[in-house]
Amino acid sequence: MFRVLIHYFIPGLSVGLSKMEIYLKLLIFVISSSLGFSYIIEGDEPGNNLLWPTEYYFKSETMNLKTGVVEPCEVWYSAEKNRSRIDYYEGMVKRYFYGETEEDSAKIYQINPVTNDRVTNKMVCLKYGGDELEDFLPTVDDFTYQGEKIFDGKTVQVWKSETNDDEMMYKIEKVLYAYRDGDTDAPVKLEEIKYKLWNNGMAGHTVTNFYVFKTIIKSEDLDVEKLDECDEVGQLGDNLRTDLQILHPASSRDVDKAFNSFKKHYNKKHGKHEHEMRKAIFEENWRRIVDHNKKNLGYKLEVNTFADRTDEELAYLTGTRSSGPEAVGTVPFPHSEEELKAMEEEIPQIYDMRHDGVISAVKNQGQCGSCWAFSSTAAVEGALARSNGGRNIDLSEQSLVDCAWDHNLGCNGGLLDQAFKYITMNGIPSQREYGPYLQQDGYCKLENMTQVYTIKGFARVPSLSETALKVALLKYGPVTVGIYAGTNMKFYSSGIFYDIDCSKSMLNHGVTVVGYGVRDGTNYWIVKNSWGEDWGEDGYILMSAVNDNCNVMSEAYYPIV
Ligand SMILES: *[C@@H]1O[C@H](CO)[C@@H](O)[C@H](O)[C@H]1NC(C)=O
Ligand SMILES: *[C@@H]1O[C@H](CO)[C@@H](O)[C@H](O)[C@H]1NC(C)=O
Repeated sequence: MFRVLIHYFIPGLSVGLSKMEIYLKLLIFVISSSLGFSYIIEGDEPGNNLLWPTEYYFKSETMNLKTGVVEPCEVWYSAEKNRSRIDYYEGMVKRYFYGETEEDSAKIYQINPVTNDRVTNKMVCLKYGGDELEDFLPTVDDFTYQGEKIFDGKTVQVWKSETNDDEMMYKIEKVLYAYRDGDTDAPVKLEEIKYKLWNNGMAGHTVTNFYVFKTIIKSEDLDVEKLDECDEVGQLGDNLRTDLQILHPASSRDVDKAFNSFKKHYNKKHGKHEHEMRKAIFEENWRRIVDHNKKNLGYKLEVNTFADRTDEELAYLTGTRSSGPEAVGTVPFPHSEEELKAMEEEIPQIYDMRHDGVISAVKNQGQCGSCWAFSSTAAVEGALARSNGGRNIDLSEQSLVDCAWDHNLGCNGGLLDQAFKYITMNGIPSQREYGPYLQQDGYCKLENMTQVYTIKGFARVPSLSETALKVALLKYGPVTVGIYAGTNMKFYSSGIFYDIDCSKSMLNHGVTVVGYGVRDGTNYWIVKNSWGEDWGEDGYILMSAVNDNCNVMSEAYYPIV
């Protein structure tokens, strides 16, 4: 940021300065302000220390410039009462902090809406064991006085702080505008930029504007309304799901708690030096998930076992490359456009092959880019089960990882049409005979198998045709598709997945469509993934059929048995 220091207040300029000098100073003033440079008027007196009142109320709006989420808050704080409270979104979520008293230990109460099978948006109060009182203004000691500035027509004091967080994993720059009001200060605006020190990237950028600021509050505003209706949930750190509901990624203390809860839940062990880096990555992912869920889009994200990993580290989750528009099956798709049009009327609105008992359990590719093997094998398993009266045979993905190297690269990725071509020519053994899935490249043991399952060939479904994909599912069984799986998909929890960011990208992941449906007018595909049962909706994701989102209708094949 450029900064032009003007040493006097503008009205004082005429004293002892020639017209030319005034003109020059004003010119600098005009240029610097019109170009958006911030200019600072050095105050006459060195700044005193910042001092927040011991009791305050404010309304604020925090804009997250990285995610575009705007979060309105209302805050009450009283050191004397040893209580504080924060409301998000005009009271949609209220959280009270009660400090320790002679009668009772410290508590946190959260009141938030709950929707489930039985109730819609019922306000529910939960009680947790708390500890220190939450303070909602930044720590004064970190800030140094920079000077005064005109902001929104008012003179404000500019304060700045630069801190390194947690063994230097982050650098945090804060600029605070405040004004003196009696003996204490009142905040006007706080800008916070967080840099990752390990790769210099920006981890977060928020701007908080403070509106109403009062130093006297009504005592009853700090009382939970129906205290006796609050259910005891226990100590934070006991249950990841409930902890993450009450904690907030904006507070560093909450991040610590959430991260510890996460580690406990997923039994993660990090080395001493790894801990801070993992926490930083966790925080970024958590923030992304919380921000996403606040937007109330059609699908939810959740913290899962991937939350302490970067996208680069999670590259093994994907591993399918596009075979391009010219790739074809061993047989052509057997329905012309006219035929499909004629069928459009008759095909059912919903179809879920899982209900026919022909879909095997969700598997986990683990730390191996073998989705191409899992997604093609899943389709073969489904097609075989359909043809033999529902008998599920667990086929060996490992045999493809080990043996199908003609156009694939084992754990380093593969192509869907090449996987089917390989199975057409060589067959695929059962997992029982071939041996367990190893999450790594191994020796091909195909020559010693007593039995392999074969397919007659495979067909490619015409791209971008919803009807063609539906007909393929209804008539021939599961369809293997290439999609783009980005960061949001890694944290998918439930709902119909539609990600604006993902349609611009190439496909990188292989999955298996096992049905389709419609909810609130949106058509979706029921998609089996290979990231384990804990991910998404029991291992599945509902992917929007709109706009070929995530390329789900670009490259699709089904095996013919
Ligand atoms: C306020 O609450 C904190 C945290 O619960 C507690 O440690 C402290 O003793 C309390 N202070 C007073 C004055 O009661
Ligand atoms: C196949 O079986 C033979 C005889 O038991 C054995 O020598 C050979 O190592 C096996 N091949 C593989 C790839 O396991």
